Amino acid sequence: MTTRVLLSELPGYGKLQALADGVKAASIEQFFTAQPNRASDFTLAAAGLGLDYSKHLVTPPVLAQLLDLVKPSGLDTDIQSLFGGEPINNTEGRPALHTLLRASSDQGLPDEFNQVRAARATMQRWAGRLNSGEQKGYSGATITDVVNIGIGGSDLGPRLVTEALKPFQGNISCHYVANVDPADLQDTLLELDPESTLFIVCSKSFRTEETLTNSLAARAWLLNAGASEADLDKHFIAVTSNLGAAADFGIPAGNCLPMWDWVGGRYSVWSAIGLSCAIAIGWDRFEEFLAGAEAMDTHFRSSPPATNMPLIMGLLEVWYGNFLQAGNHVVLPYDHGLRRLPDFLQQLTMESNGKGVSLDGRALPYTTGPVLWGSAGTIGQHSFHQLLHQGTLLCPADFVLPLRTHTGMGEQHRRLVANCLAQSRTLMVGRSPEAARTALLGRGLGGDEASRLAPHLAMPGNRPNSVITMDSVNPGSLGALLALYEHRTFCSARLWGINPFDQWGVELGKEIGTDILGRLSGQTSAGAMDPSTERLMRAWRNAQS
Ligand code: F6P
Repeated sequence: MTTRVLLSELPGYGKLQALADGVKAASIEQFFTAQPNRASDFTLAAAGLGLDYSKHLVTPPVLAQLLDLVKPSGLDTDIQSLFGGEPINNTEGRPALHTLLRASSDQGLPDEFNQVRAARATMQRWAGRLNSGEQKGYSGATITDVVNIGIGGSDLGPRLVTEALKPFQGNISCHYVANVDPADLQDTLLELDPESTLFIVCSKSFRTEETLTNSLAARAWLLNAGASEADLDKHFIAVTSNLGAAADFGIPAGNCLPMWDWVGGRYSVWSAIGLSCAIAIGWDRFEEFLAGAEAMDTHFRSSPPATNMPLIMGLLEVWYGNFLQAGNHVVLPYDHGLRRLPDFLQQLTMESNGKGVSLDGRALPYTTGPVLWGSAGTIGQHSFHQLLHQGTLLCPADFVLPLRTHTGMGEQHRRLVANCLAQSRTLMVGRSPEAARTALLGRGLGGDEASRLAPHLAMPGNRPNSVITMDSVNPGSLGALLALYEHRTFCSARLWGINPFDQWGVELGKEIGTDILGRLSGQTSAGAMDPSTERLMRAWRNAQS
C-alpha cells in the first residue's frame, strides 16, 4: 500500500500554524473593512444553495493557504476516485457509490448503475401501490400507515427527509421506530391500527439487534390482532442486502428491496432505504430529491477548489479543528422541518470521521472529526446559545436558513429569519465592556453598578459562523443540502488522511452487549466482568425480583 501523506506533513501545514496565531488576535468585523467585497467574495452558490462564509476567522491569505492543501493532500484525485467507483473504502476493499444512487444518466457510470435503476423501478412500484390505495392489509383494509423499523443510517436519513418534506406529504403517514427500548415501538403502535399498517424493515445487514427485536415485536402485534402467518407479506417489506435473513424472518423475496455493500448506511437515504420517504412524498418528489443531490454532485466534482462549496466547508472544518483547536461544530437549522438535521449529521460526520489512524494505519498526530451538535433555531437560543456567545469554547456554527416558509404565515416566519440573522451577526460582533456599560447606564443604573455588571454583559464576539441559504425546504434543496454535507465530510476525511466509509469502532460494544445480555438472561456466566459492570448487573437482577 502506498503511504498516505498526512496533513501535518504537507508543506502548507507550518504556514497555516503561523497564520493561525495572527488570526486569533484579529477581528472578523475588521476583515470586512479591509476587504470591502468580502460578503460577496466569500459567498458561493451551488445547486440552489448559498453559502456565506464571510463571518469566519479567515483572511484571503489563510484561504489561499488552505486551498494549497488540496493538491498535495491528494484530495483532488480522491474526488475523481470517489465518483469513478474506485475502492476508496480501503479497509473493506469497496467503492463508496452513494453518488450513483442519484445519478440520472448512465453515461460513463460504473456497472452497478443497472442495479440502481432496477431498484428505483421497484421503489416506484411500491410507492405507487401504497399511494394509490392498492396495497391492502390482512382484513382487506387499505394501508394508511407505514412504520419504518431501522436504526442509524436506516432511520436518521429517512426520518429527517420525511419530516422536513411534510408539506409535500400525500395520503400515507410514515412513522419511525429505532430504539430497542420497547417504549419506542409501543408509543408508535398505540396510534395505529394493525389492519392498515405496513412495516418496512430497513437493515442493510439484517443483523442489527434493535431492528430485529422491534420487527419481531411488530410481527407479534399483527398476529395477536388476528393476522395469520400467511398474511404477513401484506404487512412487511424489507430493505436489505441479506435476503437470506429476511426470508428466515418470513419476508418473501418479492417484498425485499436491495441494498449493497458499496453504500454505507449513513449514505443510503438515496437508495431503497429511503422507501418510506418515497411513499410519504410520492415518487416524482423523491426523484426531485435525488436530482437536488445530483446537482450538488456535479458541482462538487467539476468546480475548481476556490468555488467548490463542500470543499471550502471541509477546509474550514480542518482550519478550525487543527489550527484553532475548535473540537466541535454546531449546526443550527432555522426551520422546524429540519430539526433533525443535527441528528442526521452526527452520524454522517462522527461515524465517518471519528477515526484515529490514517488510511495506511498510522496513529494520527492531530485531531480529526469534531463533535457535531445543535438543534433548531430558535429553540437553542433559549438553551445553549449562552455558551456560544459567552462561553470559553470555540464553536464554529452553521446556520441553515430557508428563505421562504410553506406555512403561509410569512409574518411569523419573518421573526424566525430575523432571529437567525441576529444570532449570526451577534456571534461575530459581540459587545465590548464599554458598550455594555453604556447600555447599563442607559437603563438608569448608577456608574458603579454599571461598571460592576459590564463584564457580565460584555460578549467577546469574533465567533465564526456560516449561513447556508435556500429558497425553501423542498425535495431538491434538501437533496442538495444533504449531499453538500456528505461531500464536506469526505473532503475533511481525505485532508486528515482517513477512511470515512468504515465504522469498526461500533463493533466491540455490540459484542460486549451480546455477552452482557447472555449474563442478564442467566445463560452465560463465564468469568467475572469488571466490578462496576458486575455491580450494575446485580442491580438490574434485584430490580426484577
Ligand atoms: O452500528 C452502526 C451501524 O452499522 C451503522 O453504520 C448503520 O447505519 C446502522 O448500524 C444500522 O445498520 P443496518 O442497516 O445494517 O441495520
